[in-house]
Amino acid sequence: MISCVDRSGYSIKKPETLEELKHTFKIGFISLFDECFNVAPYFLKYPDEQLFEIYADHLKTGFLLFAYDKSGELVGFAGSRPLLDDEYVADDVKSFFKDPADCYYHSELGTAKAHRGKGLAMMLIEETIKQTPVSKILMRTKENNAPSIEIHKKAGFKPIEVTQIIKRRNTLGEDVDDKRVYMLYDKKA
Ligand SMILES: CC(C)(COP(=O)(O)OP(=O)(O)OC[C@H]1O[C@@H](n2cnc3c(N)ncnc32)[C@H](O)[C@@H]1OP(=O)(O)O)[C@@H](O)C(=O)NCCC(=O)NCCS
Repeated sequence: MISCVDRSGYSIKKPETLEELKHTFKIGFISLFDECFNVAPYFLKYPDEQLFEIYADHLKTGFLLFAYDKSGELVGFAGSRPLLDDEYVADDVKSFFKDPADCYYHSELGTAKAHRGKGLAMMLIEETIKQTPVSKILMRTKENNAPSIEIHKKAGFKPIEVTQIIKRRNTLGEDVDDKRVYMLYDKKA
């Protein structure tokens, strides 16, 4: 793991190998992910193997960040990868980019409930911006996810006029039409 930030009682590390990623899953990543997403407004859960594949894919072509508290407990995460690696999202936003290869998709972000409101997600977003090797960063969130929209605005992301409807069955067994909105950060703006 590469140490990226050590501040305000948190350390943020970047795994380099699948072994390191496996270790993160062993020490509680799945329950942290569930705490963030298998609740309102998402009620989303991936089978464990699929969640590992999603994160392994990020590690291969993009990067992951994991945050730990003073006692070494895993308390936050973020992940980004080249936009073109996510065909579905890239297709949605193609009219916005002359050069989509100049954009990363910041698809993952979450912090443990007990650590919210302490600036941890902002630290993860700032580090995401620093680690991104291209000038644009796209994020997508549920239209009513106020904490996510607000924090990204505060970090300098701006809404773009693209929305997406995802039809899916949530973990409550309901068929939902999830409206997602997009925001873009441009290092050159
Ligand atoms: C969104 C999330 C990552 C924020 O994490 P956090 O560690 O609490 O964020 P921070 O403490 O760094 O918050 C900084 C800013 O975020 C915004 N914010 C955080 N919580 C908020 C809330 N409940 N309502 C509105 N804005 C909020 C504010 O602008 C805040 O700045 P302020 O403290 O000066 O008001 C966290 O709530 C989370 O994990 N949610 C579940 C998963 C999720 O929705 N991830 C994003 C998917 S796109």
